[in-house]
Amino acid sequence: MNYTSTQLQETYQKWFEALALDRQPQSLYEPVKYVLSLGGKRLRPVLMLMAYNLYKEDIECAMHQALGIELYHNFTLLHDDVMDKADIRRGKPTVHKRWNDNLAILSGDAMTILAYQQMAQCDTRHLPAVIDLFSQTALEICEGQQYDMDFEQRMDVKEAEYIEMIRLKTSVLLAGSLKIGAILADAPARDADLLYDFGICLGLAFQLKDDLLDVYGDPAVFGKKNGGDILCNKKTYLLIKALELANPSQRQELYRWIELRDFFPQEKIDAVTSLYNIIGVNRMAERLIDDYTTKAAQLLNGVSVSDERKAVLRQLMDGLKAREV
Ligand code: IPE
Ligand code: IPE
Ligand code: MG
Ligand code: MG
Ligand code: MG
Repeated sequence: MNYTSTQLQETYQKWFEALALDRQPQSLYEPVKYVLSLGGKRLRPVLMLMAYNLYKEDIECAMHQALGIELYHNFTLLHDDVMDKADIRRGKPTVHKRWNDNLAILSGDAMTILAYQQMAQCDTRHLPAVIDLFSQTALEICEGQQYDMDFEQRMDVKEAEYIEMIRLKTSVLLAGSLKIGAILADAPARDADLLYDFGICLGLAFQLKDDLLDVYGDPAVFGKKNGGDILCNKKTYLLIKALELANPSQRQELYRWIELRDFFPQEKIDAVTSLYNIIGVNRMAERLIDDYTTKAAQLLNGVSVSDERKAVLRQLMDGLKAREV
């Protein structure tokens, strides 16, 4: 049987609610419960379960790893919001705002350990491959996050460097989720690798869309404040392309806003956004999202199961391209 995205979410949710987080001190676990209770799309566990379900029906056998991957993702968000000075996530105050930086750091640390505990609860046959891939992925995310921070201070970031940065900070977790699902289901090695590469392309499109929504999204739907990336001088695709394609006066204005230390946040956001619109980088980002989605679809075509079984992954992919949240 082929589970739908909703069925997978519901099964995941039942397991998730049974997750015991009743340890002490409460002050450490309260932020963990808080961030997990705010929902989110549960994209990574759903991808893992979909990959598993391409080959096997007993999706419960991948549920600990699905919980582990979502715990890990949520940990990255706690630390990311400190690093990005973000006040709002999933429509609610971020952990470091509601409590403080120390709790965002330590509750985040605890979540990585909880993630490893869940990840390790698998058949000993699969354990080395699963833990190796998970550890490699976790390390690459740190590397991507550090490039992201380093790039804030640089003005010469190239498009290829940006793509590599988002591959590390975002894509590898989607790719790793899919490949772990495939490994747990004893999929052929070639399929597991194709699913990984599919996840990389999907993740690149996903982060490009996230960068677009950071500027153009509806905060009430997207759940994050607009313009956070602009205020941090994040070298998103939008900014890199705008700097590349600007005429001399537009470039001068972009530089002025980037170097300015004292400004009204909304004024900077409005000015940079209007330069993005004039230069047309938003449309370029949309085209690149289409390109990576097409590449992802081609990789998925090569996976050796029937088209009917792959339909849920295809639907999910199309949904992500059009997402507003
Ligand atoms: C946010 O991920 C971090 C990025 C990689 C852009 P999601 O957009 O999947 O966040 P939630 O879990 O749905 O809130
Ligand atoms: C996401 O990058 C990368 C990780 C959380 C590892 P962003 O910084 O763009 O994510 P959001 O927009 O805060 O969710
Ligand atoms: Mg962020
Ligand atoms: Mg970030
Ligand atoms: Mg973002």
